[in-house]
Formats: sequence, structure tokens, C-alpha cells
Amino acid sequence: MDLLFDPYTILKFLHIAMAGLWLGMDMGVYTASSKLRNPAFSIETRAAMGKLAGILDMGPRSAVVVMLMLGITMTFLGGWGSAGGFHTELAITAALVGLVWLAGLWHQFWVDHPNLGETRAEPHIKLGKRFRTIDIGLRVVVTGILAVVAIWSLMGDGPIAATWLGVKLVLFSLIVACGVGIRVSIPPVRAVIADIFANGSTPEREQALKDTRGMALVFVKSIWALVAIIIWVSVAKF
Ligand code: HEM
Repeated sequence: MDLLFDPYTILKFLHIAMAGLWLGMDMGVYTASSKLRNPAFSIETRAAMGKLAGILDMGPRSAVVVMLMLGITMTFLGGWGSAGGFHTELAITAALVGLVWLAGLWHQFWVDHPNLGETRAEPHIKLGKRFRTIDIGLRVVVTGILAVVAIWSLMGDGPIAATWLGVKLVLFSLIVACGVGIRVSIPPVRAVIADIFANGSTPEREQALKDTRGMALVFVKSIWALVAIIIWVSVAKF
């Protein structure tokens, strides 16, 4: 009975729930985005699908950060890895950085998606732009640190004790890298969509949309495959 509500069980429950939420909401983003790209629908329907995809996308974007925060704490609580005597400090730092990161992500969403007739004040727009750079920078730094720690541990001498967790962190760093790939490849797609919404659908503009979206889709599908493999690795714990 004690185990039912112990902190580790609660963290693990949230960690697994986040994985489900991530994949489920990502499927929603994919479906809404394919309707957004479909020239058979009216501009109004496509715009509504774009709005839906935008809010659903906050699920996976937030889940990456939450999974990392929970994962770091569980790594030390469960004895899967060690950070000398600094477990609590590292877990608290990860939680604080994660909370600020999440606030930044949601602020950026609020700036980028005003309701009809609403405008955002200039300082918010500036902060949103600055955060975009910080977000990409953080993802690059996190990817680098995770990959180095994981490979160092897999080679025998690093802080992660369990092989499955080392492999998982390499895979997770690839996921974060794919997220950076999406962020870098999406602005040209957005520009073509804005052009279609402002000036109407023409075969040339729809073709431009098909041509620009390819790279982003490769990253999206790679993330699905990597998340599936991570779940397998986490359950198998080889
Ligand atoms: C896409 C990202 C991730 C997914 C889909 C994922 C998925 C999972 C799943 C399904 C479990 C449950 C396994 C089981 O109970 O048998 C789990 C456990 C765990 N994960 Fe993750 N995880 C992710 C990221 C991370 C990260 C980044 C870390 C570490 C920094 C981490 C550390 C852990 C730990 C320590 C456990 C606990 C193992 C146990 O006590 O059974 N995870 N993860």
C-alpha cells in the first residue's frame, strides 16, 4: 500500500502519462496540419485547422521539458545514475529551469496566437522573439550535454549507471535535435501558408507548400519512431 502513493510512483506515473500525451497530441497535430495543407478545403477551414494544430502542438513541446525534469529526478531517486553528492541540487535546478522554460514556451504561444482582433504589446513580441533564440540555444546545449553524458557513461566511466538509460539519453538527445530541426525548417512553410491565406490558393502556391514542408515532416516522423523506441528501451531495461 505504501508504494501506491510514494513519490517515485507518482513521478513515474506522470512520466508515462506525458509519453502518452506527447504521442496522442502529436497525432492530432499531424491530422490537423494535413487538413491545413489540403487545397480542397476553404481558407476558413484551413485557418481553423492551423489554429487547432498550434494549440495541440503545445502538448509535445511541453512534454519534452516535463519528461526531462521528471526523468532527471527519477534517475537519482531510483539509483539509476549518480551526481556525486549533488542529487537534490541537480533535481531542483532541473525543475526550476524546466518551469521557466515551460513559462517561456506558453508565453511564446500566447504571443504568436492572438484571438481575432487582439494584438500583443511590443515588449511581449520582443520577449517572444528573444525566447525563440533562447529556446533553440537551450535545446542545442541540452542535446549536447545529454549525448556527451550518455556516451561517456556507456563507455564505462560516466554518471549514468544503467545501460538502458544511457541508450535512452542518446535517443532523447536525437529527439531534441529533431525538435531543433523542426523549428529551423518550419518558418518557410509558415511563410507560404501566410501567402495562401492572404492572397488565395493557386497551384504555384500549393506546390511551394508541398516543396517546403518535406524536411519538417522527416523530423516529425523521426521523432515518432524515436519515442516508440525509447518506450521499448525503458520497458525492456536491458
Ligand atoms: C521521449 C522521452 C521519454 C519517454 C517516451 C520515456 C518513457 C518512459 C517509460 C514508458 C517509462 C516506464 C518504464 C517502466 O516502468 O517499465 C520510463 C521510465 C523512466 N524514465 Fe523515461 N522516458 C523519456 C525520457 C526520459 C529522460 C530524458 C530520462 C532521464 C533524464 C528518463 C528517465 C527515466 C527513468 C529513471 C525511469 C524509471 C525507470 C523505472 O523505475 O522503472 N526518461 N520512461
